[in-house]
Amino acid sequence: MKVIRTVREMRAAVAAARAAGKAPVALVPTMGAFHAGHRALMRRARELAPWVVVSLFVNPLQFGPAEDYGRYPRPFDEDRAQAEAEGVDVLFAPPVEEMYPDGPSRTRVTIPGMSEVLCGRARPTHFTGVLTVVAKLFNIVQPDLAVFGEKDGQQLALIRRMVQDLNFPVQVVGHPTVREAGGLALSSRNRYLDAAETERARSLYRGLSRARAAWEAGERDPARLVELVVETLAAAGVEPEYVELVRSDTLEPWTGEGPAMLAVAARVGAARLIDNVRLGS
Ligand code: PAF
Repeated sequence: MKVIRTVREMRAAVAAARAAGKAPVALVPTMGAFHAGHRALMRRARELAPWVVVSLFVNPLQFGPAEDYGRYPRPFDEDRAQAEAEGVDVLFAPPVEEMYPDGPSRTRVTIPGMSEVLCGRARPTHFTGVLTVVAKLFNIVQPDLAVFGEKDGQQLALIRRMVQDLNFPVQVVGHPTVREAGGLALSSRNRYLDAAETERARSLYRGLSRARAAWEAGERDPARLVELVVETLAAAGVEPEYVELVRSDTLEPWTGEGPAMLAVAARVGAARLIDNVRLGS
């Protein structure tokens, strides 16, 4: 596996791979601190493409001023070993000055109406930062397909919309959330939790699972489905930032039509956690 630090070298490497007939090219965008969830994305990419690039870039543009950019975990050597073990061809790990040579990008990608709902309420600049860096990564790596986790359900919906609206020739592949044995969705931020907080954090998926069971039994009232999650969180002493039933494609409130996603965000200890389940699919 090659580690590439510059845009120029990355472009040359992808051109050489294509010239050697290695297509489709897959990209797995990440911020590192790999866990089994990232590794599942890498494996999916590997199944779909003979040439796999994993980008590792902790993107300052998507962190708010009071957020954890400075202390976000950066275990580079462990990450490199894990990507190598998954058969990744290139680990693209540019420094900040390479991605933003003139300071933070002045051009920003945003999707009014979709960037500000759900997590966007507490993190008003977050998704603009995500979309801007993903657009840059698509332009630098020029992948045929890109794999993202479904845990970040809002992010996935926004990226699909951006690709459609801006005609990126990239197929966006969503991969199911990977969970630890207790149901907690794997996240690099889980390392901020101690054992008692991990137990409380498991209430997110317990609540979502209760609501999914109710949906499967025929419940379609959004307020009741939300209430089941809120009750489960309350029993564990967790106060949600939001619990909402939305359309998974437009993120508008689900009112009976289209694919449904029940999404939750909550702070547990020092970690802000998100999770979701798709209903009816
Ligand atoms: O999901 C993430 O890890 C990040 O938001 C992404 C997509 C790599 C952009 O920085």
